[in-house]
Amino acid sequence: MKINQNYLSLNDSYLFSSIAQKVRDYKAANPNKEVISLGIGDVTRPLAAAVVQAIQEAATEMGQKDTFRGYGEEQGYHFLRQAVAEYYAKKGVTLDADEVFISDGAKSDLANVLDIFAGGQTVLIPNPVYPVYHDTNVMVGNRIVYTDGTEKNGFLPMPDPQITPDIIYLCSPNNPTGAVYSKSQLQEWVNYALKAGAVILFDAAYEVFIRDKDLPSSIYQINGAKECAIEICSLSKTAGFTGTRCGYTVVPKSLVRSGAQLNKLWLRRQTTKFNGVSYIIQKGAAAVFTQEGQAQTRSDITYYANNAAVITKTLNKKGIWSTGGINSPYVWFKCPDGYSSWQFFDKLLNEANVVGTPGAGFGSGGEGFMRFTAFGNAEKTLQAMKNFEKLF
Ligand code: MLT
Repeated sequence: MKINQNYLSLNDSYLFSSIAQKVRDYKAANPNKEVISLGIGDVTRPLAAAVVQAIQEAATEMGQKDTFRGYGEEQGYHFLRQAVAEYYAKKGVTLDADEVFISDGAKSDLANVLDIFAGGQTVLIPNPVYPVYHDTNVMVGNRIVYTDGTEKNGFLPMPDPQITPDIIYLCSPNNPTGAVYSKSQLQEWVNYALKAGAVILFDAAYEVFIRDKDLPSSIYQINGAKECAIEICSLSKTAGFTGTRCGYTVVPKSLVRSGAQLNKLWLRRQTTKFNGVSYIIQKGAAAVFTQEGQAQTRSDITYYANNAAVITKTLNKKGIWSTGGINSPYVWFKCPDGYSSWQFFDKLLNEANVVGTPGAGFGSGGEGFMRFTAFGNAEKTLQAMKNFEKLF
C-alpha cells in the first residue's frame, strides 16, 4: 500500500505540540521554577454559569426515558443554528438557520472544508499564519502561494493581482498577529475573490474581541461576501469552549461554484462524515447566545482584554514594536536586540520563565517576532510582564 506522501513534507510535529514538549523538558529540569504560559491561546476563565446550568439540565434530560435523545441532526440542532442566525442578525447579517452548520470547533472545519474542493487547488495563505491552514493544504497536496504580512503593512497583507487563487484564507482579528482588517480592506479581498472566482475561508474565531464598532466582525458585513465566502467560527475563545468543543460554519446558499451550491456539498459531506456535536454541549452553546450568557461571557472577554492591555503597556514601556492586543487577544511583537524567534523563546523561558509562541512557528514571515496571548490568569499575566521587564 501507499501512504499519503504529502505528510512527509510536514514538520515532524505540530507547532503547539513542539512548544509543549520544550516546556515539559524545562519543567522537568527545573522543578522549582514557576513557568507562566502566554503561549498557546488556551482560555483560563471557567465556563459561564448560564452555560453550566444548561449543560446540567441537558444531562438530566439525557438520563430520563422521556427526554433522552440519540443521534441528532448532523448539521446541528435547529435551536442552536437559529440562535447563531439571530446573533448574526444583530451584526446586520441575515442568515437562514440552514446556512449554519454546528461543528466541534473552527480547527476541524478549517481543515475538513477542503473535502468539497477538487485537489490541486492554488491556495493563497498569509504568511505568518495559523499553522492549520498551511499544514492541511500540504496534507491534501494543494499548491500554496503566500501573501506576506510585514511590519510595513501592519501584518495585513492585501490581494496580489499577479496571483489567481482558488481558495483564500483570511483571519481577522488575526491569529497570530492580532491585526484586524478594516471594512474597506476586506471589501478589496471580496472583490478580488469574486473576480478570480475564488472562495474565501474566513476564520472569525476571535470576532468577539472587536470593540471598535467600525471594524467588521463578520465577512458578511462586506458587500458580495455571501457569493464568495465561507465563515468559520468557534465558541472556544468566545465562551471558553476550548475543552468543551463547539463551533459553527456558515455556508451561504448563494455561494455557487461550478454550478453547485457549496451549502449542499457541505451538508452532504457533514451528513456522511460527521454525526454532530452532543446534545448536551449544543444546549450549553445555545446558552451563550442568551442575554444572560452574553453578559457573562462578555465579562470574560473584558478580563482577557485587560490582560492584553497589560502586555501592550509593558512592550510600549520597553520601546518594543507590537501590533494587536486592542481588538484581539493576541499581541505580536518584534523580538528585541535582533533575536530570532526561537532564540528569544529560549531566553524568555530560561531567564523569565515565561512561554511565548515563536513567530517563526507561524511561517517564515514570523521570523524575528513573538506572540503573547491574553488568555491567561490576570495575576500571572502581570507577573509574567514583571519577569519580562527584568530581562532588559
Ligand atoms: C493558538 O494558540 O493559536 C490557538 O489556541 C490554536 C487553536 O485555536 O487551535
